[in-house]
Amino acid sequence: MQALPIFFNIAQRPCIVIGGGDVATRKVGMLRKAQGEVTVISPALGGELQTMLAAGEIQYLAASFSPEQLTGACLVIAATDDTAVNEAVSVAARRLNIPVNVVDAPALCTFTMGSIIDRSPVVIAVSSEGNAPVLARHIRSKIETMLPAAYGRIAAIAGEFRDQVKTRFSTTQLRRRFWEEVLNGPLVERVLSGQEQAARDLLDELLAKSEDAPSRGEVYLVGGGPGDPDLLTFRALRLMQQCDVCVYDKLVSKEVMELVRRDAELIYVGKSRDQHTLPQEEINALLARLALEGKRVLRLKGGDPFIFGRGGEEIETLMQHGVPFQVVPGITAANGVSSYAGIPLTHRDYAQACLFITGHLKDGTIDLDWQAMARPRQTVVIYMGLVGLAQICAQLVAHGVSPDMPAAVIQQGTTHKQRVVESTLENLARDVAAAGLKPPSLTIVGEVVKLRPRLHWFTPGA
Ligand SMILES: C[S@@+](CC[C@H](N)C(=O)[O-])C[C@H]1O[C@@H](n2cnc3c(N)ncnc32)[C@H](O)[C@@H]1O
Repeated sequence: MQALPIFFNIAQRPCIVIGGGDVATRKVGMLRKAQGEVTVISPALGGELQTMLAAGEIQYLAASFSPEQLTGACLVIAATDDTAVNEAVSVAARRLNIPVNVVDAPALCTFTMGSIIDRSPVVIAVSSEGNAPVLARHIRSKIETMLPAAYGRIAAIAGEFRDQVKTRFSTTQLRRRFWEEVLNGPLVERVLSGQEQAARDLLDELLAKSEDAPSRGEVYLVGGGPGDPDLLTFRALRLMQQCDVCVYDKLVSKEVMELVRRDAELIYVGKSRDQHTLPQEEINALLARLALEGKRVLRLKGGDPFIFGRGGEEIETLMQHGVPFQVVPGITAANGVSSYAGIPLTHRDYAQACLFITGHLKDGTIDLDWQAMARPRQTVVIYMGLVGLAQICAQLVAHGVSPDMPAAVIQQGTTHKQRVVESTLENLARDVAAAGLKPPSLTIVGEVVKLRPRLHWFTPGA
């Protein structure tokens, strides 16, 4: 992000527009909509601006631009077709620390306005930071079609009740919950169907019966998938947007974290191999404690919570404390990573079964069921197997798997940093070390790996 999106209150404050043509007229219209006191400075004035002047809506200075005209302005827009004048306006405004916009010249601007969706008092502005204005307009038109015009009315009615809600509930958390329940209920439909008084009555009713006390908290145990945020489920996203606090692991990608509600409290509980920021028992207790304080706790994990995720242990503790919870499955690394690497886990010709194995036991040893892993016509997927890779490959060969068996290690699968090393059991550890792969990485062993040259489709970073 290179520019901070802000909504700037210009009501009854002096704004200056340099230029008197069509573009200037559009900008004046926008400033007037936001109730700015607009002065237009230009040697000549177009027809529409003259009408506004006659109606007393704007002030006008019939003059060429000079820097002292900007003194006292809260905002300046240059909308002339003279590049030299536009540049002079930009320089003068910057010198006076006045925010300046020069139409179609992002390099001369200290602010831009984006594409606006106006459902006043709800206003949405879409910016591409000058990179792709057409894309910003395209996004705007998509949002326009999603937001019925009456959305502004919902905000206006909510505004009417704001003070009452503030008096009724003692904490921001309780107020926020009240509004969330209201907006997820029938109120929205009433306003959209034009029954505004019925909506007000409903709000009165809800206010009267709501308690000014924290309701019981709950825990959402959510699988955040292997990295690509597009792989989240709808439910995961909904709960991520409504939590009060998010307790998250190392494996949850930055892009997925971006989708957690902005003002939720974030608690990192780490967990990389051998380096647990918080011991598991303390994480379990933390979740229960936060929920018992009345919070909606998002326990966000990489992949799926029930696949090598210790989700089972966490909900056991919640059950002991009587804390309500729900579990939202996520795409586990084996599924996501194999798909993005172009390696089907099963295939009619090569594998009728698939094993998910952890290459790292609680006590740090590798003690696996090698016989089961060495069976033919199956795919073996090994989580957390990078450290013991050489030992795992050697054991598989020792238990009868061909040294030529295709195998691959995929680092940070599904993300733009995905790297894949394809090899054979015999050479995999050497090739992976040479490529310098790091965790999180997943190992796939089986005939299916040889399909990758034909089936891979995902180009990281593209
Ligand atoms: C503690 S396990 C958690 C697994 C997770 N619950 C799941 O369902 O994917 C962590 C291991 O998952 C694998 N893993 C998770 N995300 C991955 C990714 N994007 N690319 C490769 N491996 C990944 C790695 O083997 C990593 O060491």
